[in-house]
Amino acid sequence: MSRYQRHLFICENRRPSGHPRGCCAERGSEEVRSAFKKALKERGLAGLVRANAAGCLDTCELGVTVVVYPEGVWYGGVRVEDVEEIVQRHVVGGKVVERLLQPGVGQLNEPVPLPPLPGRSDHKT
Ligand code: FES
Repeated sequence: MSRYQRHLFICENRRPSGHPRGCCAERGSEEVRSAFKKALKERGLAGLVRANAAGCLDTCELGVTVVVYPEGVWYGGVRVEDVEEIVQRHVVGGKVVERLLQPGVGQLNEPVPLPPLPGRSDHKT
């Protein structure tokens, strides 16, 4: 069995101010990743789901870019306010947050709910 059930890759690439493609860091990606880490820790999922900083994922204009594996789901325009929904609906519940999907980017697999955590009554899907 894999150590982690899911990996979230959050682009933290930073470009100089005024770059034509912009960058996720100037749109708040570091705060987004911190919010993911906090939300996962609060649910007792830090050992099962990893929120990793990533370099540029090449969808800069759609950032903040977040990719969830193994499903290969690409979210764009992710803000701190969206983190709880992604964690609860997708990571825990196994349902894609369609309003945040990047257009034209498919996915590899259908998400599945995380298995219940023993002794955790707040781990609901
Ligand atoms: S800067 Fe984030 S995807 Fe390129």
